[in-house]
Amino acid sequence: MKEIAQRARIPRSATVGIENRATEMKRKGMNVISLAAGQPDFVTPQHIREYAKKALDDGYTFYPPSPGLPELREAISKKVAEENGIDADPGSEIIVTVGGKQGVFSAILTLVDSGDEVIIAAPSWVTYEPCVRLASGTIVPVPVHEKNGFRLTGEDVLKAVTRKTKLIIINSPNNPTGSVLRKEDLKEMASVACEKDLFVLSDEIYEYLLYDGLKHCSIASLPGMKERTITVNGFSKAYSMTGWRLGYLVGPKEIVQHILAIHEHSVTGPSSFSQKAAAQAMTDPRSKESVKTMVTEFEKRRTVIVDGLNRIRNISCVKPSGAFYAFANISKLGKSSMEIANLVLDKGLVATVPGAAFGHRGEGFLRLSFANSTENIVEALKRMETVVGVL
Ligand SMILES: Cc1ncc(COP(=O)(O)O)c(C=O)c1O
Repeated sequence: MKEIAQRARIPRSATVGIENRATEMKRKGMNVISLAAGQPDFVTPQHIREYAKKALDDGYTFYPPSPGLPELREAISKKVAEENGIDADPGSEIIVTVGGKQGVFSAILTLVDSGDEVIIAAPSWVTYEPCVRLASGTIVPVPVHEKNGFRLTGEDVLKAVTRKTKLIIINSPNNPTGSVLRKEDLKEMASVACEKDLFVLSDEIYEYLLYDGLKHCSIASLPGMKERTITVNGFSKAYSMTGWRLGYLVGPKEIVQHILAIHEHSVTGPSSFSQKAAAQAMTDPRSKESVKTMVTEFEKRRTVIVDGLNRIRNISCVKPSGAFYAFANISKLGKSSMEIANLVLDKGLVATVPGAAFGHRGEGFLRLSFANSTENIVEALKRMETVVGVL
């Protein structure tokens, strides 16, 4: 037998793996509470589901145009102009992707060549590194620190730049740490990118999930940045549409047209009826209302989970500023994050994600999603305390 390609030797997604294990345990009748999933626990708002049903009945069952339905690209163009300060031509600078994930994947494949270096925060979301490896690039992890809320700094990024650096990936609000970059941080990052002539991939999928009155800022809106930035966003987290597989990317047409070639040869695009529903959702004020309701609820749960974690002996947790993850420091428990996650799952029936899944700088931490009911969060913390209390 011949061997499979070297490039396919990348690890499976650890977060998906744990969620699958928890689902299997639940299927066997075990009362597992999952704080592992990266998705809102709310079903997609009713009016958006109705739009999709109507789109099917109206015959949106054919291939979509590869960059996306024109009405959806128009809606995205209007949204990014009004909310993000990005001027994007719907005809040539926007692609509707199969979730934000495919946006990240095809942007990296387009920008990164063999031997290129890509700067990312460490720890980082599980998917960036495998994508860079598939593009034959090299990851250069820049450590972020708990004491400043895990924020990536321009100064640290600058220190990591070499003549091989091609791309900086930023993700704010952040998975797994919940950190949020402020405008000053982004200005520093932008000046590094301009001075060293680098591309930036800005993953803004958690854009709306911000707490304490923080405001989102898109790096592409800063001077000199539009021409070198691909902004990725989507519907999964904002509108609770993870299963619809719908996202988008925005960037300068010189790059976007090359991304489009990869996109149309691999996926063509997400289903037409989902795109039709998303276009209507974007222009319906009820969608913003549902985001507001969800964020208010997440903010309450954030307090419950962070306070609860800080009450458990030998665990501490800084308050995340965005997204829906608590990144708890478990280093005083004297076991690896994988051992703790397995113990808590096997003995306490609570699924969490070991920090090591996000790279070795994530060791000593556990990621717990608060996209679950307050009741489940309280019960999960109680079970965790019982398990780790005897260590
Ligand atoms: C940081 C980050 N970016 C992108 C995505 C992709 O989301 P989707 O493909 O559902 O739009 C996720 C999902 O978990 C994420 O956490």
